[in-house]
Amino acid sequence: MAASLDKLFCREIELEDESALKVYQCETGDVGCVVWDAAIVLAKFLEIAAGRSANSSQQRPGTSIFCSVPLQNKTVVELGAGTGIVGIMAGILGADVCITDLQEFVPRMDLNIKENADRIQGSVKACTLKWGEDITSFLPHPDYIIFSDCIYYEESLEPLLDTVSALAGSNTVVLWSYEERTTGNKPELQRRFFEAVRKNFTVEEVPQDSLHPVYRSEDIHVLRMKMKSQNKDLMG
Ligand SMILES: C[S@@+](CC[C@H](N)C(=O)[O-])C[C@H]1O[C@@H](n2cnc3c(N)ncnc32)[C@H](O)[C@@H]1O
Repeated sequence: MAASLDKLFCREIELEDESALKVYQCETGDVGCVVWDAAIVLAKFLEIAAGRSANSSQQRPGTSIFCSVPLQNKTVVELGAGTGIVGIMAGILGADVCITDLQEFVPRMDLNIKENADRIQGSVKACTLKWGEDITSFLPHPDYIIFSDCIYYEESLEPLLDTVSALAGSNTVVLWSYEERTTGNKPELQRRFFEAVRKNFTVEEVPQDSLHPVYRSEDIHVLRMKMKSQNKDLMG
C-alpha cells in the first residue's frame, strides 16, 4: 500500500547557504511519515562535516577527525530513510545516494527528491529496501551507509543488523544517529543493538561538540562505525 500523498505539509530545514532543504511529511501516520529529530541532527552534522558550514571543522582547527565526512562523488545508501532528509542532504553535498525504505514510502521520497532537485549536486534516487532482504542490487559496497532513528522495533533489530553487515564493505563508513529513549523496551533495544554491532564493527561516538551547535541535543547521539574485518570485499 502506498503511503498517502494527501495531507502533507512542507517542512524546511535551513541550510548554511541560507537556502532550505524542503521535505514533505504527513500530518498523521506511522513512524516513517515524519522527520525525526535524530535525522535533523545527522543531516546537519553531514553539512558541517562536509565543510559546507561556518561551523565546519575546517574553520575550527583542533577538532576531531569525526568532523571530516567528504561526500563529493561518494556513494551512499540510506536505510529506513522515512522522508529521505538525511540522504537528500548527502546528495546536496555532492554524493550519489540511494535513499531506501519500505515500498510504501517510495512515492513520498520521490516527491521530496523532486522538491530539492535544484539543490542536489550529486544524485539521489529512492528505492525499496526491506531490512533482512537481498541487498545484491545495492552492491558494490557503498562508501557510506547512513540511518537515523531506526533502532525502534523489536522485530526488525536483527534484520537491520543483517542489512548493515551485508551492505558494509571493509572501506564503508556507517554513520547513524538515534535518540536515547527511556520508555518501554527502547533502552533494551538500544543496548542489544550496540552489543551486536560491536562484535563486527568498531563503534565510535561523534562528540557533541562536533555536532551542529544549533541542532545538537544531549539525548541525540551520532555514531561512526567501520567493519573490523579487512577481507570482506573479497567475499562479496
Ligand atoms: C522512526 S522512523 C525514522 C525515519 C527517518 N530515518 C528519520 O529519522 O526521520 C523508522 C523508519 O524505518 C523504516 N523501517 C521500519 N522497519 C523497516 C524494515 N523492516 N525495512 C526497512 N525500513 C524499515 C520505517 O518505515 C521508518 O521510515
